[in-house]
Amino acid sequence: MTRGMIVKSIAREVLGDKGAEVWSRLELIGDIAVIKKPIKTSLTLEDFRVLGEALIRRIPGVKSVWLAVSPVTGPYKTRSYTHLAGEERTWTIYREHGCSFKVDITRVFVTPRLGYEHLRVANLVGYGEVVVNMFAGVGVFSIVIARVSKPRAVHSIDINVDAYNLMVENIKLNNVEDIVIPHLGDAAKVVEERLVGVADRVLMPLPDLALDYAPHALKALKGPRGFIHFYIHMDMDKGRGFLGRAIEIVGSRVESLGWRLFKADSRVVRKVGPGLAQVVVDAGVEENG
Ligand SMILES: C[S@@+](CC[C@H](N)C(=O)[O-])C[C@H]1O[C@@H](n2cnc3c(N)ncnc32)[C@H](O)[C@@H]1O
Repeated sequence: MTRGMIVKSIAREVLGDKGAEVWSRLELIGDIAVIKKPIKTSLTLEDFRVLGEALIRRIPGVKSVWLAVSPVTGPYKTRSYTHLAGEERTWTIYREHGCSFKVDITRVFVTPRLGYEHLRVANLVGYGEVVVNMFAGVGVFSIVIARVSKPRAVHSIDINVDAYNLMVENIKLNNVEDIVIPHLGDAAKVVEERLVGVADRVLMPLPDLALDYAPHALKALKGPRGFIHFYIHMDMDKGRGFLGRAIEIVGSRVESLGWRLFKADSRVVRKVGPGLAQVVVDAGVEENG
């Protein structure tokens, strides 16, 4: 039985038919289980606590269970939590693709749902590339890239001091001090002050700012050609027209800045709400003229 199936059967056993409201809303981050509370639910806090206790008893390795009571909000993309069961601890070691990451679920953004994307992008990075990750969090993309590919350097920026401090720890934890260079601050400012004309590839894994910060991503490129991974939110339609529209949106943004796309692919990274998807556009860009 997969872990998803185990969670489903525990939720059914403990909560009966109401278990269907939550079983797919569970994330395991290291030894912490997070249940994302549905916006509308008939389940009470007591129901969630009973489920939390059952998860501790039945899922090997789960030591602490939290209910996420808000969506990700604010510039740091964090959530609010209520403790449900087990240890009242919010930090853990999260493992992905052979790397280890110290995280604190209340202070930084982290989700295992980006695991495939981290590896996919890492596999696109060529030997000796310089990468700029403008919204790096605790450094998951940057460190997976450093461990999986052979980049010369990965400049890894975050504005949240807690994410930055954990990123510094994670760089040491994964022995990539000679490759991943942490920067604390607003990505626009850090690029303008330290990283103009250095990069072969730029990552923008923050849909709120990816299009707005495109001028700084372009400035970070060595030029006249490079790659930028734009993460944006798109309304999904029944066909896959939104994936083409995502490319058009990115294309017109870079054209407004004097660049153009010489190559572009797009894919759904994950669903982030009813009818809403996070989409990545892998954009090959070159300067006009
Ligand atoms: C969605 S999270 C990044 C996730 C991370 N790349 C991963 O794969 O786990 C977005 C990050 O951008 C950071 N951030 C928000 N505004 C920023 C800014 N202006 N400059 C740099 N980082 C910023 C947040 O603190 C947060 O850690």
